Amino acid sequence: MNLYNIKDKSEQVSFAQAVRQGLGREQGLFFPEAIVPLTDVDALLALPLAERSARIISHLLGDEVPASKVSELIDAAFTFPAPLVKLKDGTYALELFHGPTLAFKDFGGRFMAQCLATFRTNDKITILTATSGDTGAAVAHAFYGLEGIEVVILYPKGKISPLQEALFCTLGGNIRTIAIDGDFDACQALVKDAFDDEALKQAIGLNSANSINISRLLAQVCYYFEALAQLPRSERHKAVISVPSGNFGNLTAGLIAKALGLPVKRFIAATNANDTVPRYLKTGQWEPHQTVATLSNAMDVSRPNNWPRVEELCRREGWALETLGSGMRSDAQTRDALKRLHQLDYLCEPHGAIAWDLLGEQLAEDEVGVFLCTAHPAKFKESVDEILGLDVPLPAPLAKHAALPLLSHNLPADFGRLKAFLLG
Ligand SMILES: Cc1ncc(COP(=O)(O)O)c(C=O)c1O
Repeated sequence: MNLYNIKDKSEQVSFAQAVRQGLGREQGLFFPEAIVPLTDVDALLALPLAERSARIISHLLGDEVPASKVSELIDAAFTFPAPLVKLKDGTYALELFHGPTLAFKDFGGRFMAQCLATFRTNDKITILTATSGDTGAAVAHAFYGLEGIEVVILYPKGKISPLQEALFCTLGGNIRTIAIDGDFDACQALVKDAFDDEALKQAIGLNSANSINISRLLAQVCYYFEALAQLPRSERHKAVISVPSGNFGNLTAGLIAKALGLPVKRFIAATNANDTVPRYLKTGQWEPHQTVATLSNAMDVSRPNNWPRVEELCRREGWALETLGSGMRSDAQTRDALKRLHQLDYLCEPHGAIAWDLLGEQLAEDEVGVFLCTAHPAKFKESVDEILGLDVPLPAPLAKHAALPLLSHNLPADFGRLKAFLLG
């Protein structure tokens, strides 16, 4: 697989190099040079998740990695299912939270860890990543205990749920976590600054596990196929998939699946009040506001990192950006949506509820709605309990970590201080 840097097309790399490097020059994102449609989508949809996913990834990677190796990586990473659950209103929830850290990030995080362990060349690797909540846990658990790989995770202090924090800030070992005085965009900016510092990069073998790393996105492509595989055949071409969006990696993966020939009719980019993209799609003006804290905190992103990939793919495929559905939900609307979902006997959390609510608004009569449930409701126990008057039981992995002490460091949003920490 060849990839180019969207900001500087003369920088071309292999998949292995893109995995190792994370970001290209000028903080440019790598993107596959070609996405050749699969010829046998129906046959693929008949296969089990892991086998199908290995074939999709193998098709994307071409002859760079032997098919048997790809199968090994997928078998080690995709050890849990992604069930499609039909709700009483006829819509479908794709539950992506059955992995070890109870969020969709387990797919990408675990596949990336496998790739990096396979393609590494450096003696020392430091994974530096920013999280708005769930990436941290997925990355920490995927890399925990991997020899020679140090992981440093930045997160906005006080802006992620206590349970999210407990899940990745209590591990210790090769996982260090830093609560930053700032929002997620500030954390993301620090990661970018670190990548701009050549000396630092060399000294600590810097890599990132954010959705800027292409391996994570490729893994996420696979669960869109899983969604359609579980739909009745007659409904597949009518599927509209609503994607709770923050950094827009998830939506990018869905669009790559479509470019590969998955017959999704269209997508809806669903955001909270941090609605830079829905406003942009409506007005053509890119005007990020100050990030605001919401109930769906993992989507509190006003400068989505992956947006250039969405634009690049749409341009290449000849898809007008206006064909992308989008919309935002306030916290009040999110609370209301959670309650209405509960009345349908479906227990959801704020991110998935936003995606479901926008389906309700935008789905046409002859369409079939699928929304992505990106986290287990217990991961947002505080708000779900309060809104629904419940006491959602903690699944075992959460209960175990919730009882452990937090091991996080604290730093201001200051690159000099972060650099000193990383070198020290
Ligand atoms: C629970 C949850 N839902 C949705 C998202 C948004 O996904 P993306 O950043 O790929 O748009 C995230 C990202 O952190 C998340 O953790």
